Amino acid sequence: MSDPGKRRRFQTRTVHPHRPALPEQLSSSVPIFQSSTFRFETNEEFARAIRFDGPGYVYSRGYGNPTVDAFQSAMADLEDSESAIGFASGMAAISSLLLTVSRAGSRIVAGTALYGGTVSMLQHVLPRFGVETTFVDPTDVDQVRDALPGADLFYCETIVNPTTTVPDLAVLAELCRDAGVLSAVDNTFASPYLCTPIGLGFDVVLHSATKYIGGHADLIGGVACTNEELFRKLRATVIDLGGSMQPLEAWLCLRGLSTLGLRLDHHCASAGRLAEALAVHPSVERVHYPGLVSHPQHEIAARQLRGFGGTLAFEVAGGLEAGSRVAEALELGWIGGSLGSVMTLVAHPASTTHRQVDPDARRSAGIADGLLRVAVGLEDPDDLIEDFTRALDKA
Ligand SMILES: Cc1ncc(COP(=O)(O)O)c(C=O)c1O
Repeated sequence: MSDPGKRRRFQTRTVHPHRPALPEQLSSSVPIFQSSTFRFETNEEFARAIRFDGPGYVYSRGYGNPTVDAFQSAMADLEDSESAIGFASGMAAISSLLLTVSRAGSRIVAGTALYGGTVSMLQHVLPRFGVETTFVDPTDVDQVRDALPGADLFYCETIVNPTTTVPDLAVLAELCRDAGVLSAVDNTFASPYLCTPIGLGFDVVLHSATKYIGGHADLIGGVACTNEELFRKLRATVIDLGGSMQPLEAWLCLRGLSTLGLRLDHHCASAGRLAEALAVHPSVERVHYPGLVSHPQHEIAARQLRGFGGTLAFEVAGGLEAGSRVAEALELGWIGGSLGSVMTLVAHPASTTHRQVDPDARRSAGIADGLLRVAVGLEDPDDLIEDFTRALDKA
């Protein structure tokens, strides 16, 4: 036994400083447990915790962290799922799911238009491991039904980028259930405020928390909401691959969640007003926004979503040059990737992200030469309408 009265040396006291007991009073904000590892009193406690067979935190790479747990709990509650698991990014969530549910010889059925990183996983990464994907139009029920038998996973998005296509999730979930195929949906564009796909029958809901959940363009994060059984498998993947959410990001996401509904109400109202203003501008050929009655899935969107979303796309008359000019003439709409933030972000895929893509392939994916994607921010909608009208008048 060491002598309890003996004062340890300076260097030791810097590593093991005197720690007052943690306050029992609840803090208004969840504390950030910025700690990679946690201490146990006994080996037995450590051994049980690392097998998830007893209480305690072990290590913040996938084994658990109190701040990340708080975010996961909040997400499971908001998405009506049994469990949720945080990731270092939306792509970490997506790639971890794909790698967890597939093995050599697996087949995935996925929507034709998906986030580019997801397409890259399905088209380039997974085939190296013997996993193939059948791409289908998620609004074509017969095509989906025909592709499902024998597949291991069906994958789609709630609102498809950039044409804002809205697949009927309840119908798709039923097709998957009948075929015995696991169903997953990327709900990033809607957020749990606008849509909760578990209630419509989906097995897994994924998010890039970088977008509406974080809400301020100051973090990268992801989350998967699902049942307890798949949660355990995903947790094992996170431990192996290491793409876990970090405590500060979890804390920022929790803070973002507290204003999610308020922000989404504003995003949706402003996007709706901007869509209507753009639809009557003579230099605009077409507006893609689920809130417009002209949108092909307006009726599905009205039934499935609490609001029509904060992201729209429109096609500028005059093609590639005109589209690029309008984007550059905007003052409030910043040219940039991402969405779901306080500032309005505009992308002209034909001259940026899809510049290298063959123009015919690009057009057949719904990306017209003059198409601009607008992730509407939280500015006053009248200022946004003035800014877009001025840029269009000029172009
Ligand atoms: C719909 C969608 N899913 C997933 C991702 C990937 O998320 P992250 O950038 O957080 O990895 C993005 C990113 O833009 C996205 O738009």
